[in-house]
Amino acid sequence: MEVIIRDNPEDCAQIVANVVARYLDNKDKPVLGLATGSTPERMYKKLIELNRAGRISFKKTTSFNLDEYVGLPPDHPQSYHAYMKEKLFDHIDIPFGNTNIPDGNAADLREECLQYEKRIRETGGIDLQVLGIGSNGHIGFNEPIGSLSSRTWIKILTRNTLRDNARFFEDESQVPRHVITMGIGTILEAEHCLILACGHHKSEAVQAMIEGPITSQCPASALQFHKRATAVLDVDAACLLRLKEHYRWVEENHLDWQRYDLPNRFEK
Ligand code: F6R
Repeated sequence: MEVIIRDNPEDCAQIVANVVARYLDNKDKPVLGLATGSTPERMYKKLIELNRAGRISFKKTTSFNLDEYVGLPPDHPQSYHAYMKEKLFDHIDIPFGNTNIPDGNAADLREECLQYEKRIRETGGIDLQVLGIGSNGHIGFNEPIGSLSSRTWIKILTRNTLRDNARFFEDESQVPRHVITMGIGTILEAEHCLILACGHHKSEAVQAMIEGPITSQCPASALQFHKRATAVLDVDAACLLRLKEHYRWVEENHLDWQRYDLPNRFEK
């Protein structure tokens, strides 16, 4: 896995925004995989700025979100439908019909999962999948001990995740226990997986993902199998990594076209 470490969340968000911008620039019909939660918010703000400044356009982009709670109506403030509208879609030029989020209110949830997979396949697959990581190592809502080759399906959240996500709700009892999430197998089919993590509270999960064994106890460790996975971390999230010097050495020796810090037309 490629590991990029920066001093603060702002610099991390800039890198991820630049990578997204390059995909939008280089692909005729870019397909983005998107995440929700606290982690990508800064990055979405940067994409909105770039879009407003006319430097990037989402007009030809199709997006697929990783997950959605089961049972929350799309206009519920804590649904991921509402999150995506508020944090990104309402502020950029993406055609609303090109955005896809699993329907956690579908009459037939199993059919919804199958159709979601089909829609991803029909676009030709995801070019860039943006991910966050749960403090228990989940990606999407693939919780520990689940299959590392799973497809989009209905999953049950762990007590740990219900506690973590209670901050968005009135209390823990309001957090839906069931979700629809892309599976690990679905995520691993993206051309490039880019996982962003910031803060001390992510450091154990980050260490397990990058330097631990590949195990369903840390679903994110499955990214070690991916041909192109990049972790963008702030120093706090990276604090438990044993091979930090190695990651810095590798980055220092990147060839120009591999570098993340070359000034490019997307930066201010
Ligand atoms: C959300 C998602 C989750 C989050 C993870 C981290 O779409 O897929 O895996 O990325 O729970 O959440 P935050 O960023 O709130 O710490």
